[in-house]
Amino acid sequence: MNTTSAKKQSILVVDDDTSTRSLVVDAMGQFGNYRVIEACDGVEGLEMLTKNTFDLVICDVMMPGMNGMELLDRIRELDPTTHTILITAYPTIDLTVSAMKTGAVDFLAKPFNIDDLICKVDVYLRAKAMMGEDANPLPSSALTNKISDLSTRSYIYDTIEHTKNNDEIFQEMVNLANKVIGGEVCAILLHDKDYQEFDAIVVKGVSPSFFKNIMIPSLSSFLNETVRRKEPLLLNLIDNAVFSSVICAPLKMRGQVFGVIVLSGKGNEHVYSERDLYYVQSIANRASLNIENRLLYESLYTNLLSTFQSLAKSIQARDHYTEEHSVRVMNLATKIAEVMDCTSGEIESLRIAATLHDVGKIAIPDNILLKPGRLTDEEFDIIKNHPVVGENILKPLPILDTERLIIRHHHERWDGKGYPDGLCASDIPFLSRILTAVDSYDAMTNNRPYRKAMERDDALDELRRNIHRQFDEEIVNCFIRIL
Ligand SMILES: [Fe+2]
Repeated sequence: MNTTSAKKQSILVVDDDTSTRSLVVDAMGQFGNYRVIEACDGVEGLEMLTKNTFDLVICDVMMPGMNGMELLDRIRELDPTTHTILITAYPTIDLTVSAMKTGAVDFLAKPFNIDDLICKVDVYLRAKAMMGEDANPLPSSALTNKISDLSTRSYIYDTIEHTKNNDEIFQEMVNLANKVIGGEVCAILLHDKDYQEFDAIVVKGVSPSFFKNIMIPSLSSFLNETVRRKEPLLLNLIDNAVFSSVICAPLKMRGQVFGVIVLSGKGNEHVYSERDLYYVQSIANRASLNIENRLLYESLYTNLLSTFQSLAKSIQARDHYTEEHSVRVMNLATKIAEVMDCTSGEIESLRIAATLHDVGKIAIPDNILLKPGRLTDEEFDIIKNHPVVGENILKPLPILDTERLIIRHHHERWDGKGYPDGLCASDIPFLSRILTAVDSYDAMTNNRPYRKAMERDDALDELRRNIHRQFDEEIVNCFIRIL
């Protein structure tokens, strides 16, 4: 996940333990677009810090030569705006307090969860980016809190935006609550308005049966109150056997509560604050908005597709093509795309484009479209317009951008003699090349008013003969393999 800064942010990882250092360096490299430099001890780390500027230092405490605390002192002298996260296998309260006083922004005890470190790094680098290059080295605590809130919220928003479906959103909400706020148990519950019941769909920290049978009954009045008030609630209790601090925030769609997120902890380290409540609410609000948008998009998309499908059907009926033509083309094209390792998004786009590929034929007059004899050059020019007309029909719909491009180029040829743009070889969009081969095969193997259907093997020979003229070799070979 990228931070908000356009410039690549830099991280220095200082640890004498090679395996921990590699783990951190690999995780940072995989996770974000950071420049990651490593140093094997405090002395080497200091040398790098004097030569380069780093946005963040991740540093072990116990190291031979110069330890992490000494290096931290030097970092404060060199650049007080450099954020530092200290990692140690032997955390003590004294050490933590002393590190915080010296200016370490955070502390992690070994063995640590790499996801926790990634989350902290992301949040601190967002804060650093928000403070800018010329940041006051010692911002006021109010400003620091504000920046911390903004960067945490931005981390929450980005994480939820990157989810692909509702199941992932619910899972990610629980992960986020654990990372950002912390706690022992976190769960997402859907609320059945008619039966006034809660159904846990994600539970972390305890078994689903414990949550259902022990926690939901204990929390029921608190959960119902959250649903009734439609706002997040915080509860701190003393001497409760199951939990001592609980936060519950509603998931809302169009003002109606459809579920809740619950976070609970026990003991002194999990006494939640108003700030924690604010973060849980941010998670719940952002996830609700995302779910609502997704549902709206899906229903709009489905309606739109069914409209286009009816249009495509009516055009095919006019062209004396059977309705099955586009279904066959769609099935074969998606099969090839699957075998050729296209992504699920590409396969979906190809499925839609295959259904609508000849939608532009709507603009061809009957006397040309249905002419049994040979077409004049002028008539053929009108026919050749249909990919562009098809593209224009879809133009007002930005959500079909990819499909538009596939349709525009479904009559290009490998040798550049196709239309409308005369694109050559790999300049032709890959998904259009699949569609071209399948469309031609289906046209050859089905009866048309002016000629009889070819045998399957003859049509495949024709495809083979036209490799590097009309078709892509790899696609034809794949086609032959799967037929
Ligand atoms: Fe076509």
